[in-house]
Amino acid sequence: MVMGMILQVLEETVTDIGGDGLWDQVTEEAGVSAVYSRFDRYPSSDFLAIVEAVANTLSISMDEAMAIGGEKAFPHLFRRWPDGGASYTDAVSLIGDLDLVIHAEVRTWAPHSDPPTFDIQPKDDGYVVSYTSARGLVPFCQGLLKGAFTHFGTSCDVEIMLTEGTTTSFSVRPTDPLRSG
Ligand code: HEM
Repeated sequence: MVMGMILQVLEETVTDIGGDGLWDQVTEEAGVSAVYSRFDRYPSSDFLAIVEAVANTLSISMDEAMAIGGEKAFPHLFRRWPDGGASYTDAVSLIGDLDLVIHAEVRTWAPHSDPPTFDIQPKDDGYVVSYTSARGLVPFCQGLLKGAFTHFGTSCDVEIMLTEGTTTSFSVRPTDPLRSG
């Protein structure tokens, strides 16, 4: 199951790519609702079916659609944080706060929600981020991480290093050293 808020973020992301017309088309093709309410829960298969319909329409793979979508989704997700996210000025402290602050707060908004868990550690010229989730939305998470750094003005490469069970590690390397972080 997934919280309606994530499907609302998906709607805004799909609309960025192809307007209301694309959202109507992909939800129809996926055979799912086009309207989601913030605190309700929906089958995760709705999310996947919509992404699959977008991938088909754009003639790209499911993984590419998830990664592109995650990157474009970040600003839409972040603006739902209280104060529109004004309390964060860099991606590293935001990612470091995901477990104890951000996704912890999400659990109070929707007690049955099941957000993923994260860890971030500096390594060499960048960071290693580990992501643990039974949903395993690895390329989506990869895109969100890239979107988070881009949002705060740092271009970076985010590569999948290793998946073991439900945990995936990503290597995040800023490509603009003057504005790292
Ligand atoms: C860099 C920042 C973030 C990353 C990488 C991230 C990552 C993710 C991922 C990958 C999921 C999908 C579920 C899964 O994988 O199991 C998720 C779920 C979720 N996230 Fe985040 N997130 C971030 C920031 C935020 C923020 C700022 C908010 C609040 C506005 C938020 C709210 C949620 C909610 C509501 C869910 C759905 C939980 C559920 O339905 O069980 N996230 N997050």
